[in-house]
Amino acid sequence: MNSAPALLILGVSVLFILGIKLLASPRTARAGNLAAAAGMLIALLALHHPGGDSVWSLGWTFNRTLIALGLGLGLGLGAVGAYSVKMTAMPQMVALFNGLGGGAAALVAGLEFRQPVHESEPIIGGSLLFAVLIGSLSFAGSGIAYMKLEGKLEKPLTFPGQKILNGLSLLAILGLCGYLLSHPSSSPAFLILGGLALFFGVAMVLPIGGADMPVVISLLNSFTGLAVAADGFALHNLAMIVAGTLVGSSGTLLTLHMCRAMNRPVKNVLFGAFGAGAGAGAAGNSDLAGRAVKPIQSDEAALLLANAQQVVIIPGYGMAVAQAQHQVRDLSEALGQRGVEVRFAIHPVAGRMPGHMNVLLAEADVPYDQLCEMEVVNPLMARVDVCLVIGANDVVNPAARENPESPIYGMPIIDAARARTVIVLKRSMATGFAGIENELFHRDNARMLFGDAKATLQSLVTAVLAS
Ligand code: TAP
Repeated sequence: MNSAPALLILGVSVLFILGIKLLASPRTARAGNLAAAAGMLIALLALHHPGGDSVWSLGWTFNRTLIALGLGLGLGLGAVGAYSVKMTAMPQMVALFNGLGGGAAALVAGLEFRQPVHESEPIIGGSLLFAVLIGSLSFAGSGIAYMKLEGKLEKPLTFPGQKILNGLSLLAILGLCGYLLSHPSSSPAFLILGGLALFFGVAMVLPIGGADMPVVISLLNSFTGLAVAADGFALHNLAMIVAGTLVGSSGTLLTLHMCRAMNRPVKNVLFGAFGAGAGAGAAGNSDLAGRAVKPIQSDEAALLLANAQQVVIIPGYGMAVAQAQHQVRDLSEALGQRGVEVRFAIHPVAGRMPGHMNVLLAEADVPYDQLCEMEVVNPLMARVDVCLVIGANDVVNPAARENPESPIYGMPIIDAARARTVIVLKRSMATGFAGIENELFHRDNARMLFGDAKATLQSLVTAVLAS
């Protein structure tokens, strides 16, 4: 390879790595996205074709037209998706885009595998088959994850013998891969392998509960990355290897991080069918049925807040649904003007995607130094006068700590119950994503402020400013 493409590959790789690094904080995430997108554009336009040519030196060939078409279509669909998707539907969009990436990696690998030139290269053939397999699995699995998150397939689908069927399909897939390595031109075997890989992707995700979908999407994301890296290895495309490895490793790390935050091993997410059992159903813990809760009105809640010295705000999925982040910032500023110390306690899996709350609060210009991680805020909780829980439920559920029978037992939670007063903003007594009741709402120090979070917060701001 001459030095110009090598330098370009280095530059593209640096842009990809910088992109991931900058994405780690909401403050720099926008720049991170742009850096990675710039890297991808350079990779696409300037890097070498397997024949050694750059896209520009190929002339106005069919390939170049296709690349321009793909670029235009991708930019158009991406822009429409980014502008129109609601923040709460972001995980679905990630699932869709990830699935398309996996499908594209599988198609590239499939077409390349059918080239006679690879017949004598089992390592290249093996990596292409790996990409077909993992890319198809990611494509089909992401499609099911999308439907689950859209609420079109809510319950985990389990049936007797399911694990045996999945195990047999996996064995058949491995057998077919072995066969294809020695008979690469066999079209029937290749088509059956593709079909089985798609089936396996569907079968793997169907039994997984909706609440575990963000973890599954992150895992499938890492699969897509690995498929792209395997494509890059076979096509001698270093930019694909770097991009694929980065996506593969960051997806794996994110999966492990989320599992740790929920205190659930990955195998429990993949094979536990969370949400299928009756115990996790909406009715939940019957001990709480009929136990009264203590409602509170906005005026009284505003007085408690305005007269507090320390307030901790715990945002959750409901804040995202209500799009109430700007009202939360207004309330925090109004309290700050009265000398109240306000902190935000962010649970790592609050909402429906990693960093969900951070992104929303950053959008509303809440200062970063007010955001605290769970480990920092929990030891301070006994000294907090008022804990304001805004549309959060599972992440403050004491059952995770106290009830070994609970499906979320062991998940670290924000210790809202230990504050002197807990005010919970939600619309009803409905459960959260895990589908279990929350005993916090029935505790002596808890008061329920019912209503849509945005409207309730607006009235709290008005009342605090008037007090
Ligand atoms: P949830 O437990 O899902 O609770 C959200 C609450 O918001 C609901 O109880 C709902 O009650 C309330 N709500 C909905 N719309 C509202 C509105 N417009 N105004 C006011 N309240 C509203 O949320 P959480 O505490 O953030 O927990 C997140 C869950 O997702 C956890 O179970 C977590 O394990 C799971 N999960 C998250 C991730 C990531 S990465 N974030 C990954 C995997 C799983 P009402 O309907 O009564 O209003």
